[in-house]
Parts: sequence; C-alpha cells; structure tokens
Amino acid sequence: MINEKIIVEQSLDLSGQVELSGAKNAVLVIIASLILTSGKSKLKNVPASKDVFHMINLLRSLGAEIFFNEQDNELEVDTTKVLRYKVAPEIMKKMRASVLVMGPLLARFGCVDLALPGGCVIGARPINYHLTNFEKMGVSVDIKGEFISARVQKLFAQKLVLEYPSVGATENLLMAAVLTEGTTKIVNAAIEPEVLDLISVLQKMGAKINVLPTSSIEVIGVNNLEPIEHAVIPDRLEAGGLLLAAAITGGEIYLPDAPVDTLDMFLFKLREMGHFVEIGDNDIGIKLRATKNPRAVSFKTCPFPGFPTDLQAPMMAAQCLASGTSVIQETVFENRLLHVRELQKMGAQINVEHNTATITGVEELYGVPVIATDIRASCALVLAGLVAKGKTVMSGVNHWRRGYEALEQKLVRLGARVALQKGDGLLAHDSVISKDKSARV
Ligand code: EPZ
Repeated sequence: MINEKIIVEQSLDLSGQVELSGAKNAVLVIIASLILTSGKSKLKNVPASKDVFHMINLLRSLGAEIFFNEQDNELEVDTTKVLRYKVAPEIMKKMRASVLVMGPLLARFGCVDLALPGGCVIGARPINYHLTNFEKMGVSVDIKGEFISARVQKLFAQKLVLEYPSVGATENLLMAAVLTEGTTKIVNAAIEPEVLDLISVLQKMGAKINVLPTSSIEVIGVNNLEPIEHAVIPDRLEAGGLLLAAAITGGEIYLPDAPVDTLDMFLFKLREMGHFVEIGDNDIGIKLRATKNPRAVSFKTCPFPGFPTDLQAPMMAAQCLASGTSVIQETVFENRLLHVRELQKMGAQINVEHNTATITGVEELYGVPVIATDIRASCALVLAGLVAKGKTVMSGVNHWRRGYEALEQKLVRLGARVALQKGDGLLAHDSVISKDKSARV
C-alpha cells in the first residue's frame, strides 16, 4: 500500500510480556542456503515479513516449491526442481539480500546470472568483497552494466581474506565453500549471531565448518548436503526495539525467549542509562524495568560483538529524552543517519558531523508527520512517537513491513496506541491486535 501510514499516539508505561519472531537477517540467508540441497526442508519460527516473501518468490522463480504456513510461521521448501540459475532483475531490486543466492548457485550449478543488488539510502553497499573472493575461488565474473554473469567449472579451496568482516560476503563465500573440495579458510570473517545460525544450518546439512577463535572460519568441502529441519533464532533486533519501547516510555517488559549473548553490548548501554535489566537462567530471557530518569550514553557501531549498527537508530531515539549528551558514531554504513532529520522535526536536539551525531537530551518530543527511510529508522520513529506529545504520523511503512512481522501488534499488546492507516481509513487499535492474522494490518 503506497499511502499506508502508522499513527502513533503518546503511550507511557508500556508493560507486559512478548514473544520474539525469528531473525530476519538469519532466515533470509538460511532460505537461500537451501539451494545447496535437493529435497524438502522445513524451517520454523519464520517471520511473515515482506523480505521473507521476497526471498520465497526468488526461490520459486528458480524452481523451488514452497509452502508457507504464516499462522504457525512454518516454511516448507522443496528444492528438488531448482534447475534455473538466473535471477530476474525486478526480483533483485526488491531486496539486497537477493545477492545471497550467488554462493549456493555457484556451488550447485557453477553458474548464476543476476543484477547488481544496488545500494540503498544507508549506503552504496557494493559487493566487491563477494566478487573478488569468488574470483579467487576460480569463478569468472562478467559485469555488463548492472548485470553479473558468473561461471565456474570447479571451485577451488583458498585462503580468503576479507578486508572488512562483511556479513553478506562471509555468508556467500561460506555457502560456496561447503561443496568445494579441500579446505577453504575465511580470514576476518563476520561472526554475527545470524552468520552462526547459518553455520548451524549448514552443519545440519552435513557441512564441515569450524569457527576459529581468530574470527576465521575453516570449511572442509563435502560432496553432498542433505535437506534439514531448523528453528530460526529469535530476532535480537526486534528484541532491541521492544526493550527500547519499554525503556523510552518508562515501563517494564519481559522477553522470555530473548537470546542474551547476542545483545551484551546493547544491554550494557541500557544499564549505563540507568535501566534495570535482569537476565533469565542459561542466558535466555530479558526483563527490563525502566528508570524514570535515563542518563544519555555514547557509543559507536561496530561488527559483532560491538554495538550493532541495526540498533543505532532505535537507540538514538532513546537518547533524545535522556539527560546529558550522547555521542553516536556510525562506523559500519556511510549514510545511516537519515533518521536524524526526522527526529529533529519531532523536537530532538541533534547535531551531525560526518558519521557522528551529538544528541542533547530535551524535555519532550512532539508528534508530527515523519518519513521512515529504512527498516531501523522506522523503528526509531515509532519509538519516538510512543513518548512524543500528540500524534506522530509515519510514512515509509514498507520499510517497517520489510523488517518486522506485525511489530505494531506487539506494541499494542504492551499498551501502545498504534494504528495503521490504509488510504484514508484508520484501523482502530483493536483491529490492529486482531488474533486472526488474515485480518492483520
Ligand atoms: C547485513 O547486511 C544485514 N542484512 C544488515 O541489516 C546489517 O546492517 C549488516 O549486515 C551489518 O551487520 C542482512 O543480513 C540481510 P555488510 P550486509 O556486508 O551483509 C561494506 C537491516 O536493517 N561492504 O556486513 O549487506 C558495506 O557497504 C540490514 O536488517 C563493502 O564495501 O552488510 C557496509 O558499509 C541493514 N563491500 C559494510 O561493508 C562488500 O562487498 C558492512 O556491510 C560488502 C560490504
């Protein structure tokens, strides 16, 4: 819906318990990895978010037969009939993660034709680390305009050094290496929780992978990989957004399935703000009781286990009303501060120099029309709307839908006054929390 809007009204003291959806940044690459097998796999805890539907359509376009039980968040994928290796440009354009079928298609068929995924507002997001390392493995890559044609007779095991621990490059190269004879080593690999969830899926398929303490990953190639069953890890980024919803509104929340060890740096900063954070047994489950006088904290975004770039915008929203000054440096993407302008419209005091934002806490924010520029900016603006005086009207809702499965319903269950406006009609709060997903907003 092009003119969809999310309407947020001030909702203080959000409180309650919420279950997490499966991690978007794990499930997308895991679905792509199923191309490495021929047969029927089953994934559980699959979020019904827009990007998942894009990835489903991509695999269907290659010949996969897929059934998605949205109600139970279960996905059945039969890759027996995957015979095509050309990804239509219009599919590539919908989602950058489409590039993650490159490694599996090269491993299974030795060829892939796709379009460059293009950048987005947060940065140019090139794929040079993917392509140069595929070439080191023997792939010939031919780029004509925005089209890539890659061919390889036989992939060669190599030592591949990433000049930056790129999540996508690590995942793509891993998925090529698992069916490559010999030992491939990826040095300076990304070790994000979503990468580790992919590794556990590949190991279930029969791959031989070791994650070394030096952030290198060693792969001993095998001849064949089998279909699997897997439950996707809970989404640490959704967890971060929900914890901040309770923190920013002075409430209390319990996330019984939150994976603590994927959020250590984020939780450290929430505690530094003065929020009370309690951890469940075996590092599963997080309880947060908000302080009424949050202190501003500073941080810079880094590859895992540093502060996650995907929680930078939501955490910035919480700094706008904290007492003191917060300095936030975005080091992962070159243009991931576009939400600053929108927060300033709401009354936030933020100054930007290059990739660093300095936030001076204010007494209150005001609900105004704002525009979401990317998935995590949409989360930041909804959070700011929860505490702003008056009504915040957010457009750019497609970003919200790409990244989250009905997060607005979870916020409503915590007491938030959030509604979805389709066209001119406003869906009242109660319809937002309809149990029947088919009536879902
Ligand atoms: C993944 O993107 C995530 N997306 C991103 O989440 C996340 O922000 C990012 O990792 C970092 O954690 C998915 O998993 C689908 P990168 P990815 O390759 O793999 C540069 C969200 O909101 N780079 O680690 O594309 C790149 O431009 C999204 O859920 C190159 O220069 O990230 C960026 O500056 C946003 N050349 C940096 O590295 C390359 O070949 C990190 O990118 C590849 C990357």
